[in-house]
Amino acid sequence: MKKASMILDRDFAIGKIDPRIYGSFIEHLGRAVYGGIYEPGHPTADEEGFRRDVIEKVREIGVPVVRYPGGNFVSGFNWEDSVGPKDARPRRLDLAWGTTETNEVGLHEFASWAKKAGTEVMYAINLGTRGADAARNAVEYANHTGGSYWSDLRAKNGAKDPFNIRLWCLGNEMDGPWQMGHKTAYEYGRAANEAAKMMKWVDPTIETVACGSSAHTMPTYGSWEYEMLNECYENVDYVSLHRYYGNPTGDTPGFLARSMDLDEFIKEVVSICDAVGGRKHAKKKLNLSFDEWNVWYHSNQQDKEILKADKWGRALPLLEDIYNFEDALLAGAILITFLKNADRVKVACLAQLVNVIAPIMTRNGGGCWAQTIFYPYMHASRFGRGTALRPVLSSPVYDCSDYENVPLADAAATLGDDGSVTVFAVNRDLSEDILLDCDLRAFGDLRVKEHIVLHHDDVKAINTEDDPNNVAPVNAPCEKTDGGKVSLKLPALSWNVIRLEKAD
Ligand code: AHR
Repeated sequence: MKKASMILDRDFAIGKIDPRIYGSFIEHLGRAVYGGIYEPGHPTADEEGFRRDVIEKVREIGVPVVRYPGGNFVSGFNWEDSVGPKDARPRRLDLAWGTTETNEVGLHEFASWAKKAGTEVMYAINLGTRGADAARNAVEYANHTGGSYWSDLRAKNGAKDPFNIRLWCLGNEMDGPWQMGHKTAYEYGRAANEAAKMMKWVDPTIETVACGSSAHTMPTYGSWEYEMLNECYENVDYVSLHRYYGNPTGDTPGFLARSMDLDEFIKEVVSICDAVGGRKHAKKKLNLSFDEWNVWYHSNQQDKEILKADKWGRALPLLEDIYNFEDALLAGAILITFLKNADRVKVACLAQLVNVIAPIMTRNGGGCWAQTIFYPYMHASRFGRGTALRPVLSSPVYDCSDYENVPLADAAATLGDDGSVTVFAVNRDLSEDILLDCDLRAFGDLRVKEHIVLHHDDVKAINTEDDPNNVAPVNAPCEKTDGGKVSLKLPALSWNVIRLEKAD
């Protein structure tokens, strides 16, 4: 069996984990809202039309924050369309996705759903076709207590108490030519600065996220961040990063190494933020909001056909990627990477949450089930709280198409406020188990409380409504600790969660 080793110490702290790194995203796109969270007439629908089975799954996975309502959609969205009496709300063409938006679910409904699902709203404003004025009005509508036009309108529309939305995205992917109202870095930086400044004048407690590059493969990557931050650094708190991966050639070792790319991306954007901050002699440091990440490629062809057949349709089954086992392993490796960068990544959103490139799937009128990627996300969100520890890791490595020296075993660790330690580990080896020798002597007497393993013999295995537990975690035998040391068996191609607690 191959061997790897890891030393952990409570003093090797990366930083406090912001629970919002386990955020997600719901866009007015496909069946995320209509047929996903909302389906009046469904057997589990509540009095507002929200599916209770979906709410239960969202609570199970554990989502501290949900970005809403887009995505590309937001760059043509009038937030005012989504409030007030439902029968007076306009049906609009959504130019981002070529569909029709009915606005049946809007700000009030989503805020109510978020409460039921135990999550906070992260609201995106439109800096594509609109600007600072609509943005500051949205903040006044959502967060001002009362006694002004927009806050009184909110009360008239049924919500006397403000929604108190803390986190605001300043547009979406404004570097992308596909975006409505696409801008140059300078144009966007100016627009973001003015919007953020006025939004904070309305409510100084809010935090704002500036759009970084939509991927670090963009030709403007790097200069985009530098130039736009030069214009808005003082009024923003986070820079966004987006990244999706695919495995169209069936290269599993190369695909599983993609978290290396993610790590580089994070470190590069941190450097650029600090470079701009340094140049400005700024006291404030900007952090990162990795507010779109996932695997996305399975549904590409299907989407073209759906849109060809039903242009301007409503709630079309778009971006419905069916995730396989290797996708779950990459999701796990990505979560490990966020934990290793927890000092600067303070928000991250798995894109998206229901039906659209999502861990949770539904059938209209039917069931609701967990896709493979549901599990690493749920484990990290439930158990990866407290302080992220810097593991001193030594693992055998491999080379693949894009990377050399990819560790076969990768791991992150967290120290809970109750003194418990959790290790998250992936074994990328296609055929061999790895014995991970852990030195935990710095924590006194710990014992393994639980060792959860996600594995399947077939990397392409999926879950379906009829077979929802085909890829599901199981409990492995708990390894014995000995004098603060423990050897953990990581099966070939597996995601592992090892929970350690103080021995009695
Ligand atoms: O999440 C799907 C889409 O991906 C989002 O709308 C957009 O921001 C990104 O390109």
